[in-house]
Amino acid sequence: MKTRPRINRWTEARRELLFGDFSLKSLVQPHFVVQGSRVDNPVHGMEGIHQQSVDVLIETIRNDADHGIHAVMLFGVIDHSEKDEQATKASDSTSHLHQAIKQIKDAFGDLIVIMTDVCLCTATDHGHCGLVEHGHIVNDASVERLCEIAVSHAEAGADFVCASDMMDGRVSAIRHALEKANHTSTGVLSYSVKYASSFYGPFRHSADSSPEFGDRSTHQMNINSGYGEAVLEAKLDESEGADIIMVKPGLPYLDVLRQVANSVHRPVAVYNVSGEYAMVMNSAKDPESRKNMVCEIMTSFKRAGADVVVTYHAREIAQNAWML
Ligand code: PBG
Repeated sequence: MKTRPRINRWTEARRELLFGDFSLKSLVQPHFVVQGSRVDNPVHGMEGIHQQSVDVLIETIRNDADHGIHAVMLFGVIDHSEKDEQATKASDSTSHLHQAIKQIKDAFGDLIVIMTDVCLCTATDHGHCGLVEHGHIVNDASVERLCEIAVSHAEAGADFVCASDMMDGRVSAIRHALEKANHTSTGVLSYSVKYASSFYGPFRHSADSSPEFGDRSTHQMNINSGYGEAVLEAKLDESEGADIIMVKPGLPYLDVLRQVANSVHRPVAVYNVSGEYAMVMNSAKDPESRKNMVCEIMTSFKRAGADVVVTYHAREIAQNAWML
């Protein structure tokens, strides 16, 4: 399979994110992008995190960049009326998410590493991460749609397209699709080791991506599965050409993170997910105790082998210079 090690070295911001000393520059701030203008709605259960329209988002990213955050992960939130069985909106180059990618690229060039979530769940009317036929999430047809979404994000200017769906074979299919469309410097971050976790609740509320029936256990990993399964998934994605391997969630799977970091040769990311964020925000109301808790958590990710942390805490860390 095609692996292009230069992808991770392509810009200074990519190099600092993936290969610099563990610091503020190793953090990625997630964003929820909604349609409209001047929209800045707090997300229920995630104090400090807002759903924002593109105009507000650009200002937020500018302010974050002034404080030293140079990487973002974008999630498009799609209105119910625009969802359908095929997740059409997810690959629509006129969507607000695609506008956001373009405008961030125009405004900041290569200063910001733009990561975009590639999945069907925010755009399907049933909320599943793949296409559904006769009550089953089908694999290969879903992968085809994922490729179209990934290419549309690359076209808009994404640095890394981030496959969070857990379909089999999607990394190599996306890599092929990117090559075919001549996006040879766009990377693939794979949510390689992603568990069917109970820690995604606040995110699903914000992204309006809860499944209408069933759950995600036919594709996301079983929480009881062992290190062998985790390492298998990580190595598969590495062999398929993933540029970054991610483990998710973070805190309940630090042991898995260590195993994966020992097993692959690509940079490793960890996703400090919405439920983990909510736990901290709910239990440490004053900033001083939160500072200690958040820094301890970031240290644990580093110790367990993470090169990159996707975390909703990034902004508060940056604004208060908790981590330099
Ligand atoms: C989409 C996706 C999810 C998250 C990131 N991408 C939800 C899910 O898999 O149900 C969760 C992130 C978080 O909880 O912060 N598939």
